[in-house]
Amino acid sequence: MGEENYLFKPIKIGNKISENRIAINAMECCDSDEEGNPSEKTYRRYQRHFEGGSGVVVLEAITVGYESRSRKYQLSIMPRNEKALAKFVSEMKRINPKTLFFFQLTHSGELSHPDFSKRVCVKPLPGFGGELLTEDDVEKIMDQFVTSAKIAHSAGADGIDIKLCHGYLGSQFIRPYNDRKWKFGGSWENRTRFPYTIYERVQKEINDPNFILGSKVSIWEGFPGGCGSAGPDTAIMDLTESLDLVKGIEERGAKFIIVSAGSPSITLALSQPDKKIPDDVYLHFGFQKAVKSVVKPETVVIGSAYSVLNNGNNALQAVKREEASLKYWGNKNIKDGVTDMIAIGRQSLADSLLPAKMKAGKEDTINWCTACDNCIEFLIRQKNVGCATYDKEYADSLRQIRREEGLLKAKRT
Ligand SMILES: Cc1cc2nc3c(=O)[nH]c(=O)nc-3n(C[C@H](O)[C@H](O)[C@H](O)COP(=O)(O)O)c2cc1C
Repeated sequence: MGEENYLFKPIKIGNKISENRIAINAMECCDSDEEGNPSEKTYRRYQRHFEGGSGVVVLEAITVGYESRSRKYQLSIMPRNEKALAKFVSEMKRINPKTLFFFQLTHSGELSHPDFSKRVCVKPLPGFGGELLTEDDVEKIMDQFVTSAKIAHSAGADGIDIKLCHGYLGSQFIRPYNDRKWKFGGSWENRTRFPYTIYERVQKEINDPNFILGSKVSIWEGFPGGCGSAGPDTAIMDLTESLDLVKGIEERGAKFIIVSAGSPSITLALSQPDKKIPDDVYLHFGFQKAVKSVVKPETVVIGSAYSVLNNGNNALQAVKREEASLKYWGNKNIKDGVTDMIAIGRQSLADSLLPAKMKAGKEDTINWCTACDNCIEFLIRQKNVGCATYDKEYADSLRQIRREEGLLKAKRT
């Protein structure tokens, strides 16, 4: 491969320009205030993201309704949050007006945490479940999405990612597992009614060609009846529906698709390739290519799961070390038409200044993600999430949490 660096070529998304091909993926970090507004900690994280100069920052999963959320301190996007979100966007745009800011709108459905919110479901999945949603409930949730999209628009976001991945409500409708006989289940037409209605309504009611819509999609969830499986009781991969979904939302106005896989509560290593077995990253490349080959050339495909590649210091085998890194694969995949952009998730916690450092040729100063997955441990425990490898505050916090956990266990035994 020549010296050309594809990661720093600008690209058009909708009517706007992303300065480069690096996006910060949505990363929920459980540090909102009591009302679901950004706290000081939230500000600090995003300030760094905007200083880092990535072309796109996707705001973490922000809930359209406070009653069904998966994190106690999850950001929220309801009318009461509008002012705080507008202030937040304006501060980030002051730091870096060029970075595009998309909000990831979500509802947690069966992944809502029963300790502090209401768990609801499309059809009970073993180990999850909750109260069965009625058709009226779904209409109300779609209203919440549309209201939240309008808030994102008026708060100054450049666009929204209508979340259809990782087992949250958007993906629960789409799954073949949703074979319940109702307006939102069974046939493919019924299972896509939820996302398609939201897209159609948002397009019509916001009606701003400069407001960019898109979705993060789990192309294959990797368990029986999951998205991208051949039927409600098989995990055999059949991407027909996932690719049809991508085309369906594109027809309804999606300008970008963030390609992901898995459902972290079930198939974690598929969503976030594990440092011991990083090879699942190749599956992601295949999914990215599959999406790229069905969408229009102007629809921007953003690939996930690149963090595990870091600077090539990973457990991938049968490759030369210089051909095992995030930079190598990012460049190659863009050049080969596998994806248009790459997104960094865990790496953004380790060092969100990566784009700026790379651009300045200071790669040796990048804090590379070790895929230790301590960040996931914070998330699972509902604690403020950060990088315990490079940030002392979070290293101390992790030690403290584990100590307390040890004490609790000792008390129980
Ligand atoms: C702590 C943590 C929080 C996450 N939060 C979100 C989220 O809010 N929305 C989402 O779509 N994915 C979320 N993810 C998944 C990442 O966006 C990304 O898809 C995944 O980590 C794989 O990319 P990576 O290898 O670059 O980390 C989260 C992952 C982690 C580890």
